Amino acid sequence: MSLTVEIVKTIPYPDQKPGTSGLRKKVSVFQKENYTENFIQSILDANGEAIVGSTLVVGGDGRYFLEEAVAIIAKIAAANKVSKLIVGQNGIFSTPACSHIIRKYKLLGGILLTASHNPGGPTEDFGIKFNCSNGGPAPDAVTEEIFSLSKKIESYKIVNGLNVSLSTIGKQSFDVQGRQFEVEIIDSVQDYLEYMQEIFDFDKLKTLIKGSKERPSFNVLIDSMHGVTGRYVEKIFKETLGCGEKNVTRTNTLPDFGGFHPDPNLTYCKELVQKLQDDCAYDFGAAFDGDGDRNMLLGKKAFFITPNDSLAILANNLECIPYFKKNGVFGFARSMPTAAAVDRVAKKLNTENFETPTGWKYFGNLMDADRISLCGEESFGTGSNHIREKDGIWAALAFLSVIQHTGKSVQELCEDHWKEFGRNYFTRYDYENCAEAPCKDMMKHLQELADTKALIGKSFPTTGQTYTVKEMDNFEYVDPIDKSVAKNQGIRIIFECGSRIIVRLSGTGSSGATVRLYGENYSQNEVLKSAQDMLKPIIDIALEVTKLKEYTGRDAPTVIT
Ligand code: G1P
Ligand code: ZN
Repeated sequence: MSLTVEIVKTIPYPDQKPGTSGLRKKVSVFQKENYTENFIQSILDANGEAIVGSTLVVGGDGRYFLEEAVAIIAKIAAANKVSKLIVGQNGIFSTPACSHIIRKYKLLGGILLTASHNPGGPTEDFGIKFNCSNGGPAPDAVTEEIFSLSKKIESYKIVNGLNVSLSTIGKQSFDVQGRQFEVEIIDSVQDYLEYMQEIFDFDKLKTLIKGSKERPSFNVLIDSMHGVTGRYVEKIFKETLGCGEKNVTRTNTLPDFGGFHPDPNLTYCKELVQKLQDDCAYDFGAAFDGDGDRNMLLGKKAFFITPNDSLAILANNLECIPYFKKNGVFGFARSMPTAAAVDRVAKKLNTENFETPTGWKYFGNLMDADRISLCGEESFGTGSNHIREKDGIWAALAFLSVIQHTGKSVQELCEDHWKEFGRNYFTRYDYENCAEAPCKDMMKHLQELADTKALIGKSFPTTGQTYTVKEMDNFEYVDPIDKSVAKNQGIRIIFECGSRIIVRLSGTGSSGATVRLYGENYSQNEVLKSAQDMLKPIIDIALEVTKLKEYTGRDAPTVIT
């Protein structure tokens, strides 16, 4: 039976502007009449003629509305002459797995259904993001094109009679007005597992976990926070690396993530912190976010390692990972707000090092041009050029490889690193769900201070140290590869001593505004102090300069990292 393409008239929505990482809104917004359909049609149209005969991967993190969205995508893709969709079983793929599949099977791209670390459920968030043929999030030019098409869309094409079964692995073929359209449902984990086995030395990792004559068994606790990584963790850590039941937790993926905020940080992942504090038998903890691209790493007794430091430690030890032995190490990169610990390693190793705007998409060109091999963000994102997304499980396996290779604990690795390089103390204050207008006014106020250079040379005496402003600007990035320019990427106040304050508004929220305030303070010798103490003076300066309390009415941040 041949299925028919229908053309459905629609009216544009004005708010389909992708943020730092795709379009994120409340589920109820995506459920509005034609809302999801419009956006999918705009994504396909932004690809022009290339969409005809193409293959795309589709998958998401298991959150509420996933299966409905996959069904809509299949119907619209078929109508727009896409040849084939590769879909994870039950619609499930982690973000890193999607990136890998695009690259491995040389696809035109993929549609990722996730709002990452944002809560899920009928009253929470959903998200749609397009990744290009390099496996990475679409660059600004593409997302702007999608947005501009979404503002003038008049109709979309759909095959309403096309129904895909998401649960059975295998190929399903459809005849759409004489053209073949295929949907292949594949195992969500297999390709990713095989790739991890290629990248890392699984035999060595197995020995680390099991223990040997030289070393007792190494006890890990891997927390999937009810997100998508559950099945990956079961397969990789339990079935392949030999971990036991007590080494993994919350591996059942739930559409509302069990009511938790699936963001692996000290505030939202207290459960893991508590378990490691209570049970000294654990040597290592790792947690991943809803879609599996973020990671938080902990040592014994929940010793916290910042993503800035884990990036730098990995950079300093990449030779112990077979992938880098084989492919070499090109250079490193970090997003601008990320503390500069990795810069010092780059200097020692004499490799290139880049500072990019916030968002993984800015690393893509550098990786494609073989300029960087490893990169990271302070927001619990770490990854390499093995794919074009950050990768939580990869980060945990990479850190375990360093532990295996050096024979050191997490804490020893950190403290030895600080002794060699000094320590970049770092903190981030998040003020979530503020009213939008006053936050924009605050940014305007800061922009004026930067434009008029009013703060340059100004000294702020604090107990112990006087901080003098050396530079203040709004970060602007010229992509070294395609020369594209990203403006207004965050206000930076840089002091004579190298300490920094950064202020920007989040681009991933689904409603309201979130202010992010970052503080960094480098010390060469005093490396074992409390980060909050070391950063208190510059946070106080930041609060004074930004007038944050006046603008937002907030006394305290919602999250401190
Ligand atoms: C946040 C993080 C950023 C990360 C992004 C997607 O974006 O700060 O580093 O790339 O989530 O995971 P923001 O909300 O700050 O725009
Ligand atoms: Zn994520």
